[in-house]
Formats: sequence, structure tokens, C-alpha cells
Amino acid sequence: MCGIVGYIGPKQASTFLIEGLSKLEYRGYDSAGIAVHDGNKITIEKTIGRLANLEQKLEHHKLEGSLGIGHTRWATHGRPSDVNSHPHSDCTGNFVVVHNGIIENYMHLKEQLIAKGHVFTSETDTEVVAHLLEEYYDGDFEASVKRVLGDISGSYALVFMSKFEPNKIICTKQDNPLVIGLGEGENFIASDIPAIINRTRRTYILSDGEMAVVTKDSVWVTNRQGVPITKKVFEVNWDAEAAEKGGYEHFMIKEIYEQPKAIRETMTSRLAKDNSHIIFDELKWTKGELAAIKKVVIVACGTAYHAGIVGKYYIESLARIPVEVDVASEFRYRFPLVDENTLAIVISQSGETLDTLAALKEAKRLGATTLAITNVVGSSISREADQVVYTWAGPEIAVASTKAYTTQLISMAMLSIYMAGIRETISAERSQELISGLRNLPTQVHEILEDVEPIKTFAQQYGFNEDVFFIGRSLDYAVALEGALKLKEISYIHAEAYAAGELKHGTLALIIEGVPVIALATQHDVYEKTLSNIKEVKARDAVVIGIAQQGDDQIKKYVDHTIFIPQADKYLAPILAVIPLQLLSYYAAVTRGCDVDKPRNLAKSVTVE
Ligand code: M6R
Repeated sequence: MCGIVGYIGPKQASTFLIEGLSKLEYRGYDSAGIAVHDGNKITIEKTIGRLANLEQKLEHHKLEGSLGIGHTRWATHGRPSDVNSHPHSDCTGNFVVVHNGIIENYMHLKEQLIAKGHVFTSETDTEVVAHLLEEYYDGDFEASVKRVLGDISGSYALVFMSKFEPNKIICTKQDNPLVIGLGEGENFIASDIPAIINRTRRTYILSDGEMAVVTKDSVWVTNRQGVPITKKVFEVNWDAEAAEKGGYEHFMIKEIYEQPKAIRETMTSRLAKDNSHIIFDELKWTKGELAAIKKVVIVACGTAYHAGIVGKYYIESLARIPVEVDVASEFRYRFPLVDENTLAIVISQSGETLDTLAALKEAKRLGATTLAITNVVGSSISREADQVVYTWAGPEIAVASTKAYTTQLISMAMLSIYMAGIRETISAERSQELISGLRNLPTQVHEILEDVEPIKTFAQQYGFNEDVFFIGRSLDYAVALEGALKLKEISYIHAEAYAAGELKHGTLALIIEGVPVIALATQHDVYEKTLSNIKEVKARDAVVIGIAQQGDDQIKKYVDHTIFIPQADKYLAPILAVIPLQLLSYYAAVTRGCDVDKPRNLAKSVTVE
């Protein structure tokens, strides 16, 4: 989730590039850079850190020219550093590119290019694009870019400049946003509308597979085959603040809607094309290494801890290794039984949570092998852990974690199938079944997000109740915990999650007429038992909202309202079942007039004990 800007016109490009990048700063990033064409050559200036660092550099080294591109990076392939920052260029410096997204087949392409003598300076996937362009360039910029696009796979928004074309920028996209701002005698390119909104409100929103050749007076859009496309001008009528949120009212809802993409990107390049196995190039564990692991401990806080509970279920049932899950703030103080035969997995969106970092250090001190699952490349936790699996969710700005959670579950699922494959505790058929199930998830999440009206209505109806209960068994219980946390943190409604079978041991005393109970019933093997627990609360006149899988004809008889999720394997159902709960919390908070993105007393990154 990086940011892209581009300018072509009569003015100094760098002025707009810096202004545009600053409008993307709210997303958070780790490095920035620009490239400017002065009519003869392209010069790049880039640096790790915030935009202010780049501005400082530019004070001493002005880049003159009226054609340029810029980028803010949120690291994925390669840690944050000067060399890994964009723009990237080829061996000659004749071709320069900025990129958002992930080039899935970059390793293979890089090997081929190195064999042909190309010299790479960064660890990024993006650099292959510049070298490919150098390789293919035959005097025809557009045709060469098309050849490059024919070779790469993955998701991208790409913007190209060539030393030989001082009057032209080429851009294209696949599964990543890109917009062209239409000015008078000048044009702008950006990954997000906030970057251009102060300059123009007339835009072309590029669609997947479209390629635009942008000059100062024209924008020529074609598909990859060169067939011209007539674009409609999209007039932006949001204010700047709304534009940062992509037209959504809050970052939280924007991030909820980003989940199909976040999930897809987290799985990108990790699922074998034929669904036969999981590829973790970052781990490459052997059977011997895994055999040495006698125990797994998962340590995290808040939402990430809830992902850990699901992870325990996955690892124990698929890879058959005993797992303990700990809240990070407790782990260090309970003298945990951890040694060199322990794999300690820490989960953290930010990679900066102090409790989690301290637990990681403790596990390391006790001799464990450590693995971090985190969303932030170069974060303290990613640097401290022996190995890292990144969730590629992009920056999460709302305090309430949503897309980080679902991508943590995806990572835990992939990790467990991967471990089970190596340990031979899963059959080839079952592994294939789960991997194809994973592949369906982005579309299924999208399906849920298409039909939010009933959820909105429940939230409005029950948003003013003071207590809400969440119940479920097995994996549904883990999701119930996350649902209750979400509701508490942003709507300030008192919410409790219980293992459905545990109610009768005390909590049932709190169930009285009209109390909303959200009952998750997506797990077939405990379905009948869950129904019994639903009947228990119904008998006390609770209002029950059931969350069930499509095709479940029974549930409606026992609950007041039902939210159906698309059919999925019981292991993958949590990734779908949590979406209505996120939406329910969101709309309840909106109904109550709460500050959704910045709930009281809370911070996004908790760096105190
Ligand atoms: O950045 P981390 O994942 O380490 O953060 C852990 C928790 O602070 C975080 O998940 C928190 O519980 C969220 N605000 C919940 O939505």
C-alpha cells in the first residue's frame, strides 16, 4: 500500500510531487523518493524515513524539470532503506519506474535478468520491471512497456519514465488503484485521489488492464492489446478529508472493505498454482527442523491474540503439535516452559507492541526459535524475530483492527497447512481442499460486503443496548472473542464472549428479556450442541442474532434474525464470520455517535507496558 504520484506539464514537477506525496502521508510509510526528467536525463532522489527527510535532501539537490514521478513506500519485499526506496531504475538509468503492489514472479525474472548480465541494487520486486524495460527497449516506449507487462504477474499500479521520451509518462494498473488528474496543459497521476484533489477534480479512474500514455496535453488510454478506450471523466466531489478515506466515512469501514484485496495479497505467491501446497520462501523449513519442535507458543495482544487462538486450533488439528496461546503481557511473568525445542510465534499488526516485543525477547532468551507474523516490514518485532511472515494488508489506520486480523488468520492457516504438509499430518486431498478454500475467500468476503443493509439495521436496532453477549463453540468461540472486543472498543457497549457451553456455568444468570445474543453457528461438528445453547438463551427471552453458513435451513427456527455467510470449510469459516461482526460494531458505533477511528483511551500502537 504505497503511494504514487506523477506530473507532466509546464511547471517544476518536484513541487507537485512533494505536495502530492504529502497528501498521502496519513497512510504512514517508511521511505519516499522522486525522479525528474530535465529534458536530457532523469535524476532520482530518494531516502528512508519520512517525507521531511526527502525534502531536506532536495533543498541541497534541487531536481529541475517538468516531468516526474514520485513514491512513498510501505515496505513489502525488502526492508525499508535508501536503496529499496522507489523510484527504481535499470542498469543504465534510462528507465525509471514506481510501483504499488507485488510482482509475484519477480524472483524468477530476476534470476533470468541476472543471467543476462543485469546488475540489481535493491531487494525489491519492483526493480525487475525497470530491468525488463531496459532489456526490451527497441526505440518504441509503449511497445516495450507492453512486453514488460506480458512477463510480469501479480498486482500493480506502475508508472514509467524513459530518458528517451521527455514528453511522456506511461502508467498502467492491475488490482491496485491508479487515477489520472486532468489539468489545463498539465496532467497528474496518483494512486489516490487526495494527492491531486488540490490541483484538479477532473479525473480518469483507470481500470485493470488499461494503459495510459500521458503527455501534458493528452491522455491516451488503451487496453493491453492497444485497442483505444474512451474514458468518462469522473468529477471528484469529496472534500480533501473524505478523499483520504477514499470516499468512506471512516478509515475503519474503508479497511473493512479492503479485506478482499488484503487477503488476496497476503496469499499471493504463497499458494501453489495447482493448490497442492503452500510456498513459504521466507521459511523453507525442513522435516528435521519441524520434528525438533515439540511445542509451539503463540504470544500476542488484543485482536492479534484472538488470531493466535484460531492459530492454536489450526496448528494442533492440522500439524499435530501442542500449542499454548498467551496474552503477551502475561507471558513473561508466568515462568513459561520454553526451551530450544519450542517455536514461539508472535503476532502483531504494528510490530511495535511493547508487551509482544518483550515476550518475543523472553522466548528468545529461553532458547526458542522465534517467528513473527506482522504487517510492518522493518518493525522492531520483525527485526528481533528469527524469521518473519508478513501479512500484506497494507497500512491499517483505524485503531480497531480489521484487515490485519483477517490476514493474520490467513497467515496462520497457511502456516499450519505448510507445517502439516512437511510433517505429513495432512493428506494431499485435504491440503488441496483447504488451499482451494483459501483461494475462494476474497470473493466470499466481497459477497458479504455487498449486502450490509441487514447488518446496519440490526446495529441501529440494538446499538443502544448496554450489554451484548457473543457465544460460539470451537472456532466460533474464537471469533466471538474478537466480535466482543470490536464492539467494546469502538461503540463502548459492554460485550462479553463465551464458549457457548460455558454459559450455564454462571453467565446465563445475566440473560434476561431483550438482551442481544450474537450466536455463531458456523462449525458443523458442534452445530447441534450450539443449537442447544441458543435454545437456552432463547428460553430466557434473549434476542438472538445467528451467524450461520448459507444452506443452513434449521437455524432460522431458533433465532430472531440470521446473517448468512457463504459456505466454507469449518477451518476457514472464521475468516468470513468475523466480517459481519466487524460491520455490526462499526454501525453500532456510528449509531451511537462514537469516534470510530479513534476510540477513547486507546492508541493504534501500544508501546508501553
Ligand atoms: O499492533 P498489534 O497487533 O501488536 O496490536 C495489538 C493490539 O493492541 C490490537 O490488536 C488491539 O487490540 C486492536 N485495537 C483491536 O482492534
